[in-house]
Amino acid sequence: MNEVRTLGVLGAGTMGAGIAQVAVEAGLEVLLHDPIAGATDRARDRIGGFLKRKVEKGQLTDEARAAAVERIQPTALLEGIAAADIVVEAIPEDLELKRDAFRRLDAAAAEATILATNTSSLPVVRIASATARPGRVVGMHFFNPVPLMALIEVIPGPMTNPGVVDDVTHLARLLGKTPVVSADTPGFIVNRVQRAYYLEACRILESGAATISEIDDAMRGIGFRLGPFELADVVGTDVNLAAGTAIFEGFYGDPRFRPCLVQRRVADAGRLGRKTSAGYYDYGEDGTRGEPWQALNRPASGPRIAHLDPAQIEARILAAIVNEAASAVADGVASAEAIDTAMRLATNWPDGPLAWGERIGLASVVRSLDALHGTVPDGRYRVTPLLRGLADAGGSFFTGHA
Ligand SMILES: NC(=O)c1ccc[n+]([C@@H]2O[C@H](COP(=O)([O-])OP(=O)(O)OC[C@H]3O[C@@H](n4cnc5c(N)ncnc54)[C@H](O)[C@@H]3O)[C@@H](O)[C@H]2O)c1
Repeated sequence: MNEVRTLGVLGAGTMGAGIAQVAVEAGLEVLLHDPIAGATDRARDRIGGFLKRKVEKGQLTDEARAAAVERIQPTALLEGIAAADIVVEAIPEDLELKRDAFRRLDAAAAEATILATNTSSLPVVRIASATARPGRVVGMHFFNPVPLMALIEVIPGPMTNPGVVDDVTHLARLLGKTPVVSADTPGFIVNRVQRAYYLEACRILESGAATISEIDDAMRGIGFRLGPFELADVVGTDVNLAAGTAIFEGFYGDPRFRPCLVQRRVADAGRLGRKTSAGYYDYGEDGTRGEPWQALNRPASGPRIAHLDPAQIEARILAAIVNEAASAVADGVASAEAIDTAMRLATNWPDGPLAWGERIGLASVVRSLDALHGTVPDGRYRVTPLLRGLADAGGSFFTGHA
């Protein structure tokens, strides 16, 4: 396609405003639509505020800030953004809402226009199939906060033209981001592999083998910026449970992705994380983290469970992550390099899961998983055959052989 000059952004919420900001900072014109009165003006003010801080820090001239804000043009009708070269949709995560918006965009846009969705958990193909141009529909999954997060997952559906992938990959680079191509499978790369981080932590907690703080402390101790429970509180325990449930259902109930009851309990209690000042932890008015919610720790009077030390907690959670990343490679979601890059950029993990697994030793990862499978043989700990094969042969995900 010709040079992208104009980006259409549908939805001026958290993600839409962030996408509009990085686009105008990269010199693009942005056509922005939101059906809620005042939403686009509020987004423009917010973007202006962020850019002003950049001016104060000497990262931007005041003229450049003013010109960037001027490049955001709100449109009264959804169809108004269809004049752009590429449209990115960032409206709520509801399939019918998105299919309806794509139908309208499809009817209004020129044949060559690319329509991208920022969905986190819906299959791109289900959105693409609402249009008469599935070959020009693609996933462009930005991460929050958009101006700070370097990754964009580019997700072609089964009908997406390869040239469209090239075009949005080029756009991602123009926006200063690193694109990683992922197959259109549940959770794409990041949300799928990150499930293992949350779920193994919850399973340890539910078994009574360690407490919330012991698990978070252990993972911070090996370089994760936030432990799994602290992270769930940042994401929102409701949002996290919904994402996990969508992935579980997307894999037709595979036990590897089955959400934990503690995830349900904390969300059902209205403890939605930092946004409600209570989640797995309590939070003070100034946002300082308080004590974990004691109701989630197993009562001391319950059956005696062998307590895990930090090294055992780390080994279990890392083994689960490595196994999931290996399963994504085996399923053809992305290459080992792409998966490690995506996980490092989206999560700030100290290393990519596959490189980390090789550092620990794939044979030791397989031993941990086999031991867990021996105690809970429901399939959640089954070793990905690719991982077992490489461990047996002394091979590498990156070269494919020993
Ligand atoms: N928030 C995140 O961390 C995050 C990260 C990655 C992807 N996503 C995905 O991005 C999308 C948007 O999420 P968000 O957090 O920005 O939501 P949000 O609720 O902050 O913003 C959504 C905006 O869309 C508007 N809207 C509602 N219906 C619309 C319609 N029919 N047409 C146009 N606009 C409409 C709303 O008025 C609102 O301003 C979702 O698909 C979400 O899954 C969110």
